[in-house]
Amino acid sequence: MKLKKMIISVLALCMAVQLLCACSDQSAVVSEKLHIGVTYYNQSDTFLNGLLESFREQLGELEKEGLEVTVTIRDAAGSQRTQNDQVKDLIDAGCTLLCVNLVDRADPSEIIDLARDNDVPIIFFNREPVAEDLMQWEKLYYVGAYAEQAGIMQGELAAEAILSDDSIDRNKDGKIQYVILEGEAGHQDAIIRTENAVEALRNNGVELEKLSYQIANWNRAQAQNRMEQMVSQFHDEIELVLANNDDMALGAIDAYKKLNDMENASPVFFGIDGTDVGLQAVLDSDMRGTVYNDKEGQAEAMVRLAAAIATGEGMQEIDFEKERCIYLSHWKITRENVEDYIKDGGDGTGE
Ligand code: BGC
Ligand code: CA
Repeated sequence: MKLKKMIISVLALCMAVQLLCACSDQSAVVSEKLHIGVTYYNQSDTFLNGLLESFREQLGELEKEGLEVTVTIRDAAGSQRTQNDQVKDLIDAGCTLLCVNLVDRADPSEIIDLARDNDVPIIFFNREPVAEDLMQWEKLYYVGAYAEQAGIMQGELAAEAILSDDSIDRNKDGKIQYVILEGEAGHQDAIIRTENAVEALRNNGVELEKLSYQIANWNRAQAQNRMEQMVSQFHDEIELVLANNDDMALGAIDAYKKLNDMENASPVFFGIDGTDVGLQAVLDSDMRGTVYNDKEGQAEAMVRLAAAIATGEGMQEIDFEKERCIYLSHWKITRENVEDYIKDGGDGTGE
């Protein structure tokens, strides 16, 4: 009887060990199929549409390397609740990886819980979750750009223009009267860009006088509307418009075009992004300069990271900051170099 009991427990132990081995084997098994579920905050966003277009293109490259990739993209239409539901649906549909552009960057908990419960890793992009949220689970990543750098470069571009062109200080008071068009309140790229642009202008010896600032939520039509209000308040006093992105700079330019006053009372405009329409405005000399927000580089980082997560290979070669974040750099664009970007799709090599 004792012997029988012993045999049974030895057998049970063997089975348990086998089971354990099978489990750890499984985590080492590379999945050659990748089903990516993407959800982004709003399909009306010019920059993100460009980024996702590049992402799709570069995923095509992975197919050539033998990975079978399918991608499903959802528009959250500005609602965090909708986005939470989309994440649930994408997981139910069998997605093995999620790429999430949060609607509310301060509210990712539900999404993180869903992903963790189903063991589906997430690459957040462009709208950065706060560090504590990103630390909730080791399969959470972030891909974005250095927000301070974009602001500093915008401020430097504006300073270079102002210091080399007396006509910008139209009322000749030795100061530059400026207004700001800001992105969404609470977005890491809004307040940080503004602060750094203004500081860079000051550091470069430009005396400033702030007339006003308005939030226009990254949106061209809203920016036009806000700019019209500011013009009716300040008339031709405004000498410089700093916009947190190209779409808002373009909205401000639309306002002046509508007033039919691009020549006499028009300030100089600076954007950030280098979207197709933004680059065209620099080429047409409507916008004095912009800062290239490297959507191709960000898309490439997302693709490389997705492949590394799926295959278990190549993770060591990725340059992470803060453990699981990847940040891309910007470039300055003026009338002098804009054609290189229009031609080469923005990798700055001019090739
Ligand atoms: C871009 C904006 C965009 C926003 C969306 C920013 O990094 O510069 O153009 O609207 O991200 O989250
Ligand atoms: Ca002035």
